[in-house]
Amino acid sequence: DKGTYPFYMLKEVDEQPAVMRKLVQEYLDEDGRPTIEAGLLNEMKKADRLYIIGAGTSYHAGLVGARMFERLTKIPTQVFISSEFAYEQPIMSEKPFFIFLTQSGETADSREVLVNIKKQGWPSLTITNVPKSTLSREASYTLLLHAGPEIAVASTKAYTAQVALQAILAKALGMTCDQQAATEFDLKQQLGIVAVGMQALVDGKEKLESIASRYLSEPRNAFYIGRGIDWSVALESALKLKEISYVQAEGFASGELKHGTIALIEEHTPVIGIITQDRTAGLTRSNLQEVVSRGASVLTIAAKHLAQPDDTIVLPDVDPLLTPLLSVVPAQLLAYYTSLGKGLDVDKPRNLAKSVTVQ
Ligand code: M6R
Repeated sequence: DKGTYPFYMLKEVDEQPAVMRKLVQEYLDEDGRPTIEAGLLNEMKKADRLYIIGAGTSYHAGLVGARMFERLTKIPTQVFISSEFAYEQPIMSEKPFFIFLTQSGETADSREVLVNIKKQGWPSLTITNVPKSTLSREASYTLLLHAGPEIAVASTKAYTAQVALQAILAKALGMTCDQQAATEFDLKQQLGIVAVGMQALVDGKEKLESIASRYLSEPRNAFYIGRGIDWSVALESALKLKEISYVQAEGFASGELKHGTIALIEEHTPVIGIITQDRTAGLTRSNLQEVVSRGASVLTIAAKHLAQPDDTIVLPDVDPLLTPLLSVVPAQLLAYYTSLGKGLDVDKPRNLAKSVTVQ
């Protein structure tokens, strides 16, 4: 039931702080130690490489997760689009472990991969929002997202739940592998900061409504740019915008713009920069300057400690691995309000289904 909300999507965006707290409660104990079953962690510890498989938004969550696994466990991690891996399996490592990310647990493209890798005898984990779903039943292990039903076709709270749960799993596995970075990562405290930060962002949603109407209601195309983990969020942000508002949006690695795509920048083309990482903030800012001088309307989503006076949205500071949990929220809201402003059916965009059960 969507209660007083006009659309499920807005309700689900608003639920994200509560989902973060729920994950802390489900997967971290009083002292912040992960409570994930030892059987799963010991199996994962044997792996020489992690393979994350997902489609759409779940693939984008995997791009963030891979950075977390590599940083906290030191196990090489690769992310694949399900429908690509299914028909073009790369040269595999000796001891692969598969992580399937799927909100619904029913995505046919992802299931095709699971069926194939099971035949090859490889172990797997499904991270899903739906208990007893097909991919949950068929994988060796399951972790639940506990996000509550997600009804809107555009995935929001499942994405942030996938990112947060991968962080918890990466910490747990890193600790199992005696990695100091994992032991020292105070995820309980950081996810608390995230929940408070998300709440502030959703409470400030009016600002995003006016930005959407001013900058995104007319243009036919838009760009999100960022580097590293911000690029991963740029991809997800662009998918949200195109999926529900029908603005043709692309997520770009900031440095790639000048290698071709900058030719598309015209007067008033919206370019939204995501700036949360110390090492790359200055570079992304200079890429934004390049598009400003070609007439683009530049918006910025920046972490507080890197913020400049005219940034559009300032995010509370959090551990650099967890910034996607905050930077994606304004992007979700911009997509929502652009769609709403155009009078579209936000929850049921054309040509799309909530779970895609054909390949
Ligand atoms: O249920 P899944 O997570 O496997 O679904 C994967 C995609 O179909 C899904 O994330 C899709 O891209 C969303 N509509 C994006 O908002």
